[in-house]
Amino acid sequence: MSELKAGLKHRINMINTALEEYLPEKENPQAVIYRAMRYSLFAGGKRLRPILMLEAAVMCGGEWEDVKPFACAMEMIHTYSLIHDDLPAMDNDALRRGMPTNHIKFGEDIAILAGDALLNKAFEVASSANYANPARAIKALSVLAESSGTEGMIGGQVVDIAAEGRKIALSDLQYIHLLKTGAIIRSACVIGGIMAGADKEQLEAVDMFAKNLGVAFQIRDDILDVVGNEEVLGKPIGSDEVMEKNTYVTISGLERSEQLVKEYSEKAKDALKIFGEKAQFLTELTDYLVNRNN
Ligand code: IPE
Ligand code: IPE
Ligand code: MG
Ligand code: MG
Ligand code: MG
Repeated sequence: MSELKAGLKHRINMINTALEEYLPEKENPQAVIYRAMRYSLFAGGKRLRPILMLEAAVMCGGEWEDVKPFACAMEMIHTYSLIHDDLPAMDNDALRRGMPTNHIKFGEDIAILAGDALLNKAFEVASSANYANPARAIKALSVLAESSGTEGMIGGQVVDIAAEGRKIALSDLQYIHLLKTGAIIRSACVIGGIMAGADKEQLEAVDMFAKNLGVAFQIRDDILDVVGNEEVLGKPIGSDEVMEKNTYVTISGLERSEQLVKEYSEKAKDALKIFGEKAQFLTELTDYLVNRNN
């Protein structure tokens, strides 16, 4: 196993342990909601957003304990967005993280509620920890809320759905990607910086890194929907075509899209230069994501 892969594995274990702490099984009349939330949360995601938050914090002089509640909250929000994204009313997908989607397993009613519940749990977890610096946590809470709302992920999902079945310009697609995927990846990194006490210049650099990484990440996601392997990817191939989505592949073509993933990744890495050696892990992670297969 490469050093990067071992590093990722170690971080994923840390994140999973914390998630388990915040969302244990429960036996009461509504136990099914805990089962449904845990089903998707522990289905084996890459944990990219919590890893980015942790590493942004470390790069700015912080540590895991500074971001633990926010990192877990972020993964809960991301997981909720996936449960809802897969619903018949949205992308109508049956496979996620290598398992039947939440609504296939638990029914649409419980899947909708499990998404809602993960969103609420996220803010419960992030707002009820004992922070050494509460002012930073309040700022981070507002960034978390805004980035997952109507000017962030939800806004992007709305425009993505509205564009189904019709041709849009590349600039419109960039807007969709920046919001539906970019907003949360950006806030993951910015929250890491905030909780570590980063200064303005550092926060701007972290944000510039994440903005470009987010775009590269979603372009690669669009590519994998066409050329990926369902078993490795853990979600269906060809879903975008069925839903008549606008993607980088439909607008720019496969070859240009692959080139753009590299270009945005280079821009992301450039933004990290002010951190010197401290940026090593995020730099290597960015390179790794260019050719990711899942
Ligand atoms: C999937 O995100 C949705 C997108 C924004 C492309 P990930 O590719 O990070 O999914 P998981 O968390 O690893 O399942
Ligand atoms: C969804 O983008 C991004 C979210 C906010 C969940 P996609 O619809 O392309 O994500 P996948 O391909 O289903 O993971
Ligand atoms: Mg979608
Ligand atoms: Mg989808
Ligand atoms: Mg996709």
